[in-house]
Amino acid sequence: MLPLLILLTLLLAGDPGGTSAATPPPPPQPNLPIGVNYGANADNLPAPTAVAAFLASKTTINRVKLFDYNPTFISAFANTSISVAITLPNSLLPSLADKSTGLTTAVSWVRANLAPYVPATNVTLLLAGNEILLSPDPNLILALLPAMRRLAQALKSEGFPSIRVSTPHYLGILAPSDGIPSNATFRAGYNTKLFPSMLQFHRDTKSPFMVNPYPYFSYNPQTLNYALFRPNAGIYDPATKLNYTSMFEAQMDAIYTAMVKLGYGDVEVAVGEAGWPTQAEAGQVGVGVKEAQDFNEGMLRVCSSGKGTPLMPNRTFETYLFSLFDENQKPGPVAERHFGLFNPDFAPVYDLGLLTDGKSVAPNPSPNPSPKPSPKPSPSGGGTWCVAKNGANSSDLQNNINWGCGYVDCKPIQTGGACFDPNNVQAHASYVMNAYYQANGHTDSACDFKGTGTVTSSDPSYGDCKYVS
Ligand SMILES: *[C@@H]1O[C@H](CO)[C@@H](O)[C@H](O)[C@H]1NC(C)=O
Ligand SMILES: *[C@@H]1O[C@H](CO)[C@@H](O)[C@H](O)[C@H]1NC(C)=O
Ligand SMILES: *[C@@H]1O[C@H](CO)[C@@H](O)[C@H](O)[C@H]1NC(C)=O
Ligand SMILES: *[C@@H]1O[C@H](CO)[C@@H](O)[C@H](O)[C@H]1NC(C)=O
Ligand SMILES: *[C@@H]1O[C@H](CO)[C@@H](O)[C@H](O)[C@H]1NC(C)=O
Ligand SMILES: *[C@@H]1O[C@H](CO)[C@@H](O)[C@H](O)[C@H]1NC(C)=O
Repeated sequence: MLPLLILLTLLLAGDPGGTSAATPPPPPQPNLPIGVNYGANADNLPAPTAVAAFLASKTTINRVKLFDYNPTFISAFANTSISVAITLPNSLLPSLADKSTGLTTAVSWVRANLAPYVPATNVTLLLAGNEILLSPDPNLILALLPAMRRLAQALKSEGFPSIRVSTPHYLGILAPSDGIPSNATFRAGYNTKLFPSMLQFHRDTKSPFMVNPYPYFSYNPQTLNYALFRPNAGIYDPATKLNYTSMFEAQMDAIYTAMVKLGYGDVEVAVGEAGWPTQAEAGQVGVGVKEAQDFNEGMLRVCSSGKGTPLMPNRTFETYLFSLFDENQKPGPVAERHFGLFNPDFAPVYDLGLLTDGKSVAPNPSPNPSPKPSPKPSPSGGGTWCVAKNGANSSDLQNNINWGCGYVDCKPIQTGGACFDPNNVQAHASYVMNAYYQANGHTDSACDFKGTGTVTSSDPSYGDCKYVS
């Protein structure tokens, strides 16, 4: 959602490298507390009890977030100083939302899956699914808030009133905008029909509104320094007279602004996931150990040091870095398997100041990168895709690319990506508009783009460039 503006700012400043108006970043602050996502889609990881012992005795990591509710993992953290966030599967939400049986279902779930492990394990957060609003299934989306309410009710009645209920959101919950934080609002339907009630729920239950800000999915070579907390010209928000020198802070303040516009600026914001990979497809600019280190250091400073953001100064945010380990069995692009902070032998992949022995460690990237996944086959037919209309205004199409890349993975249209060629705005816009359309329920309105998009039943994929379907 930000790139157009950043690009303009950099161009106007006559300094695409973006180093002139720079304040040098402060040195890393060691020993800040932080949470991590503990995903385990891998065949080379240590036992959960060894992981728990390592985190508790050797690191400043004080929270973990699980993507499921596996009892082996939950009980591994029993009697440690580390708190645990657990995630219910998306598929469970409709049964929890049911008006007549949902509460009973929630109570049974809590009794079977939580009560046996608490309080030995300090479970502090129960997450209703993951990035539900990305789902093309309207029934799942409608189930989200009722399911959260039933879970909170069940936790209270079963004697766990301090366990909070939340759900992580992708940044596509924000409406398209020019990237100035003060201009942000939630997407139109959600802004009136979902978020006021959800934020009221968070206020009533003192639970955080959880977002997954990923500058990694929005940067391009021109905005790399801005995305990585490196010296750059930044962007200026005329409404607040604040300067932004990192995309992460601009994304956090965009979320906050959207909340304030609904009257819920007092609700706590938590970061469910954020991170940067150490490897990606060969030739991708901006990915590596140093890049991951710079991003995560900057994010730690914003979230854990008490620095806060321009609109939320001096605040700390409950934050879960993505991710504890590389996950060698994860599908998708190479980067998906290379977000890890630690190797399986617990050697840090790079130094983030998280080790309590205080020693700085040399970068130690994992030596055996996993092989590239075979590309997903395109579907055999019956699908629909969204593409840019022939002859659509190219500045409108450029706008579609700029904000679309705030919501969807734009790696394929970047230099070296499978859809970079042909390198023109029509082709790049089609790729982005389609990815957005597919992620937002294939509705005609998700392909409207102010009249510049059109739905087609023929797959626009070509060569290695596979359109999302
Ligand atoms: C945690 O500590 C309690 C009290 O010392 C003990 O009874 C329990 O077995 C321990 N739980 C685990 C899973 O280690
Ligand atoms: C559980 O974890 C939270 C968050 O880290 C902490 O504030 C709380 O004191 C912990 N509770 C116990 C009993 O250790
Ligand atoms: C963004 O905010 C500026 C003032 O800060 C305003 O002039 C502009 O119209 C806004 N743009 C949008 C798209 O809301
Ligand atoms: C923000 O940056 C602009 C342009 O670099 C500069 O003129 C202005 O003084 C800065 N404002 C603040 C509040 O730092
Ligand atoms: C944030 O902390 C700084 C330094 O301690 C202080 O000057 C400033 O007033 C604080 N701002 C807010 C909004 O609390
Ligand atoms: C495209 O639209 C912009 C504003 O929306 C306008 O300024 C420009 O003239 C248009 N270009 C063409 C080729 O129609």
